[in-house]
Amino acid sequence: MKLWGGRFTKPTNQLVDEYTASISFDQQMWKQDIVGSLAHVAMLGKCGILPMEEVKQIISGLKKVKEKIERNQVAFSVENEDVHMNIERFLIEEIGPVGGKLHTGRSRNDQVALDMHLYLREKMMEIIQLAMYLQKAMLAQAAKHLDTIMPGYTHLQRAQPVLFGYHLMAYVSMLQRDIERMQESWKRVNVMPLGAGALAGTTFPIDREFVADMLQFDGIYVNSMDAVSDRDFIVEFLADSSLLMTHLSRLCEELVIWSSQEFAFIELDDAFCTGSSIMPQKKNPDVAELVRGKTGRVYGNLVGLLTVLKGLPLAYNKDLQEDKEGMFDTVATLHGALALLTPMIESMQVRAARMRQAVTQDFSNATDLADYLVTKDLPFRQAHEVVGKAVLYCIEQKKYLLDLSLDEFRQFSPLIDEGVYQALDVDTVVNARNVLGGTARNQVEKQIAVYQEKLAATLAWVEANSQKVMIESLVDVGSPV
Ligand code: ARG
Repeated sequence: MKLWGGRFTKPTNQLVDEYTASISFDQQMWKQDIVGSLAHVAMLGKCGILPMEEVKQIISGLKKVKEKIERNQVAFSVENEDVHMNIERFLIEEIGPVGGKLHTGRSRNDQVALDMHLYLREKMMEIIQLAMYLQKAMLAQAAKHLDTIMPGYTHLQRAQPVLFGYHLMAYVSMLQRDIERMQESWKRVNVMPLGAGALAGTTFPIDREFVADMLQFDGIYVNSMDAVSDRDFIVEFLADSSLLMTHLSRLCEELVIWSSQEFAFIELDDAFCTGSSIMPQKKNPDVAELVRGKTGRVYGNLVGLLTVLKGLPLAYNKDLQEDKEGMFDTVATLHGALALLTPMIESMQVRAARMRQAVTQDFSNATDLADYLVTKDLPFRQAHEVVGKAVLYCIEQKKYLLDLSLDEFRQFSPLIDEGVYQALDVDTVVNARNVLGGTARNQVEKQIAVYQEKLAATLAWVEANSQKVMIESLVDVGSPV
């Protein structure tokens, strides 16, 4: 017999049970479901909706169910469809018909929304922390490489030399935005839908503020139809995650390129690479490739949910059950990627000599020759033309700019003097970009300091909110009532 079987004349078709059930995946939220129920029933008691005696029975029953789930002593079933009805069934088996009073003044529609808010509130906090650890690892590598000069690229063609630490700081900046976006979305996750009922509120004199306080929500949904239909908070999480994965994917693409023999700028640690079943010499950057590849499923989860929501009438529709798998998958995908990239970055060997050699055998100081001529009062556009001709000459002569004699230089412009050799030296070139945001060593030091401060701010935010994600402590599961 179904929990909702009253108006039915025959059992559900077995295929319908299987098709409509969500228990195979929503059981991940069993703890959130029990914590939500504990808060709800405590409120029913406090408001005099249920007698305290029954509230105590239900609370101790829920705690027994919790223990049994933890010890693997209960079996979730497809006949009971989802995590909410499975747990309610366990409760009734545990304490008898009084367990059926738990659902007073509540619907699965506000219940499932509550579970997902509690779930994401915790998971997004974890992801923010993991992103912070990666940021920290990259900051440490950046600080170690304030003298490591590498080619900077545009169009994947050598452009201008930069510090390796500077290149890494670009990713630290992206991660900072990712963290701030998650923190911003987290505000909308930390709003309580419970008390919305099926869609219209409830006839019982419930106290939503009491439950919100207990579960430490910063706000309550103002409109109950919105509360049960809203999945914006999951869309935002998936969108924030998509952008985060985009950044990780770009980083991974660079790790793959840099670790190729053609570049040989870095060497990834053996512990984070894999081999080939046929080619004994191979050491493949599989982890970086897989992070790049898994970015696709995260985008898919975002587009999938947006498509579920588009055109969906208010309020709850069963379509909304499709919100969960993509959310769980995204959480797992981000966890995997961030947890691996951090030690990969920490253990990566940087081949500074090889990077420097690359920079001395190219024309990435050409802009500096043009800038040098500008300091001699040649208009930049003419200077550009002069240097272009000099580069062409060098290519024909199989030389680089610094190989030219002063006489050769002067064929292109009489403004050039001995000072040109200093101006085109790679260390000068990097450190000449001494403007806010530039690649000069002391600018990169400033950038590191800026992000170290932001890192400390994130840490303080995590600490300030850490109690809210320890949901079992909120309802004091350990105490008798
Ligand atoms: N398993 C359902 C879901 O995930 C719970 C809500 C069911 N509500 C309903 N009216 N059928 O969406």
